[in-house]
Amino acid sequence: MKIAPSILSADFGRLGAEIDAVLEAGAELVHVDVMDGHFVPNITIGVPVVKSLASSVKAPLDVHLMIENPEKFVGPFAEALGKGAQVSGREISQDYIVVHAEACGGPGGADGGFGSAEALRGCLQMIRAKGVKAGFSVKPGTPIEQYEDALALSDMILIMTVEPGFGGQSFMEDMMPKVSWLRDKKASSGGALGYEIEVDGGVNAETAAIVREAGAEIAVAGSYVFGAEDYKEAIASLR
Ligand code: DX5
Ligand code: ZN
Repeated sequence: MKIAPSILSADFGRLGAEIDAVLEAGAELVHVDVMDGHFVPNITIGVPVVKSLASSVKAPLDVHLMIENPEKFVGPFAEALGKGAQVSGREISQDYIVVHAEACGGPGGADGGFGSAEALRGCLQMIRAKGVKAGFSVKPGTPIEQYEDALALSDMILIMTVEPGFGGQSFMEDMMPKVSWLRDKKASSGGALGYEIEVDGGVNAETAAIVREAGAEIAVAGSYVFGAEDYKEAIASLR
């Protein structure tokens, strides 16, 4: 299982050093939580920070957009990744932009209406058209089955195991059927479905074993990794 530390729990005053440290400690991806104060009751970072990270971080960036109408911002985020890549020589085809299915297509957004599978498909196509890996996420209360016809357009699917908005919450084990459903769909698709399965929220040494067992391939971990004395030991304990 790949490990994606969430920088939400990092020391933002030393962000570059914090990211270097988790990559040195063995993390494969860097998870970047973008919040708008509308889709979730919290505000974090936006396009300029992603641009700076893209120009300095060598590992793939996993940009988790917890924002309303993400179709309006896919362009600026993809551009930030691209501009950063010109500086660092990284490949944006390794980066992910992940939208929330519930947030696509609001008033003025893509066709199909808020939270529709049609609007989500539009978002995923926009992301792929920018040369970035496309992913979508569902909140704990959102069934995954209703987005079945978006699976073929997805490079990653992110199952939330906490309500999005804050780090440090407790893991919801009852989300594991969604993870196993995605694993089984992929396994029985004869190669037609190629998404990676990611889990986000409340992952620690104990719950990582549960998500691995259910079929997750990438685990996001914020407070558990950045709150540890030894990042290397913490990351190793999740695999
Ligand atoms: C929550 C974020 C998570 C968060 C996870 O809305 O999407 O990425 O940082 O934090 P922990 O691992 O502390 O639950
Ligand atoms: Zn996240």
